[in-house]
Amino acid sequence: MKKYTQKNVSDINLEDYLGEYEDLQATADDMIFDSGRRKESLNGIWHYAVDQYDTCIRQHWFEERYLDRDGNTLPVDYSFDEWPTMQLPCCWNTEKEQFLLYEGSMIFTRTFRWTTEDKEERVFLKIGAANYICRVFLNKEYVGMHRGGSTPAYFEVTGRLQAENRILIQADSTRRPEQVPTENTDWFNYGGIYRDIELIRVPRVCVKRFQIALVPDGTFSKIKVRVQLSAPKTLCTDANAESTQPTLCPHGNLSATLRIPELNICAEIPVQNGFGELIIDAAPKLWSPENPKLYEVFLSCGGDVVSDTVGFREIRVRGRDILLNGWPIYLRGISCHEESVRYGKAPSDEERLETILLAKELGCNFMRLAHYPHDERMARLADREGLLLWEEIPVYWAVRFRREETYEDAENQLRELILRDWNRASVIIWSVGNENADSDERLAFMKRLADCAHAIDETRMVSAACLVSFEKLAIADRLAEYLDIIGLNEYFGWYSPDFNQLPRLFANSSPQKPVIITELGADAMPGHHGTRTDKGTEEYQAYVYERQVETLQGISYVKGLTPWILFDFRCPRRTSVIQGYYNRKGLLSPDKKYKKPAFFILQNYYRGIAGSALSDGGNVPGSAAE
Ligand code: GCU
Repeated sequence: MKKYTQKNVSDINLEDYLGEYEDLQATADDMIFDSGRRKESLNGIWHYAVDQYDTCIRQHWFEERYLDRDGNTLPVDYSFDEWPTMQLPCCWNTEKEQFLLYEGSMIFTRTFRWTTEDKEERVFLKIGAANYICRVFLNKEYVGMHRGGSTPAYFEVTGRLQAENRILIQADSTRRPEQVPTENTDWFNYGGIYRDIELIRVPRVCVKRFQIALVPDGTFSKIKVRVQLSAPKTLCTDANAESTQPTLCPHGNLSATLRIPELNICAEIPVQNGFGELIIDAAPKLWSPENPKLYEVFLSCGGDVVSDTVGFREIRVRGRDILLNGWPIYLRGISCHEESVRYGKAPSDEERLETILLAKELGCNFMRLAHYPHDERMARLADREGLLLWEEIPVYWAVRFRREETYEDAENQLRELILRDWNRASVIIWSVGNENADSDERLAFMKRLADCAHAIDETRMVSAACLVSFEKLAIADRLAEYLDIIGLNEYFGWYSPDFNQLPRLFANSSPQKPVIITELGADAMPGHHGTRTDKGTEEYQAYVYERQVETLQGISYVKGLTPWILFDFRCPRRTSVIQGYYNRKGLLSPDKKYKKPAFFILQNYYRGIAGSALSDGGNVPGSAAE
């Protein structure tokens, strides 16, 4: 990786002050498997300072130089432990009124004690999410950086820890055109280190990947497990190895043991050069929204033991049908952002559960987690509560499709999401983006992403929320060719006022694969009433839902809906008197306490479907279920 050599100028004249922090980027390749591991939390009270001009990294505050080489005291522009404090993880926007609209850098720092337990232990720092860029410093040294506002960052800090430590993290929430997403989105740009900050001890050779799933071959009778180990770079490496990943010495060929007690499975997985794979005959009860059966699984290798709680299910497409466990399913869904009025993009566990239970009250078996990866606990909750999920990376609107670094950022976020949630039965669809104009550059960019998702994960479907082609009044996005399921955002009755175009759109289209209507809807200010023609009223929103479901139920290749959106959400682009800086297309108020009439129209529609044959991935005749 290019080593930055800083010109010998003072910080006030150094234009390219970021250059020295561009290397050591944490990516998907740096992730380790951490389910079932002991985690030592760094959550809690951190000191902070608003750093609008990036003075910290310009002046190297993290080096804490208080004396010059002659021992004279130097003036400094920071006082870490006298700064005010904030409880992390959080979004700074919702912590202090004066920070609601702040976008830029903030510096967070704390000290902590550390006791080495085993001289051979390795230690990883995990930051669950920081929006958008974070730069990490430990004990006066630069550790690395991560870009991407909704996926985890892992930094190996083995050998950097001492009895007393200072960690300092810069979080920069600045929106930029070249980022993913760009500077223009229809949601609020929360900033901060807003998911858990943890230290994870692992043995010298540890489990880096542990992926386990039903083999998607329609027999529901085989489980595939894949294992990858991580060895410290110092361990003997194969001098001829191409990969930067250390290979294990030939004598390092190990075997891993997989245990699934409830299935009486205990299997040895041969691991060669750090990689192992095994297919095992098994007859698990199949996971579905109706029967979210989960199993405790354990993997041990060398001195490392990890575990997970997983469901076994199969999702496939056959023609225009979506098959869950071999059974055609209709995805009764709803979209949602990751947001709460009190905590912004860091909802509490209670609020996450509330969101899932409200979706189930609506009659959903499916939810679109828009437009970026939500907290990993959302998929674990969905596994437990029985809800299928669409997860998405924020390749949203006018991403800079011509820019290779932007593609690398998007692909890395996709790989981080897929590796993070690989074992989650609830996740059935990876979405590579939303509402991108159909250009050649965009097609090439998103085809690469779809190909990447297919290459990493053969057990799930790949989709994207595409736009209607209005010149053809049809579903005609060229990206559809590379997707398993076509997502379509259509706002007939709202942005496209003429409802009569909706049936014509479907009559003009003949997709040979399933379609999910990934967005439809209308704004309604809670409690704002009028006639069924007054846009912005609850009555008009209800009318739009009535007309939409009336049309959609007759379209044979529409196999699901995720209307926009479960609850109103903060949005800087929405300034009208009924919006008040909120997007009001929610079926619920922002605090999720008030249900608008459209909630009940959709609920009624879903109840009708749930009672029909084309409802849910129940158990397949002959499967090992009940
Ligand atoms: C778009 C977009 C959403 C947005 C919605 C709206 O389809 O995908 O992010 O909030 O429309 O305009 O309300």
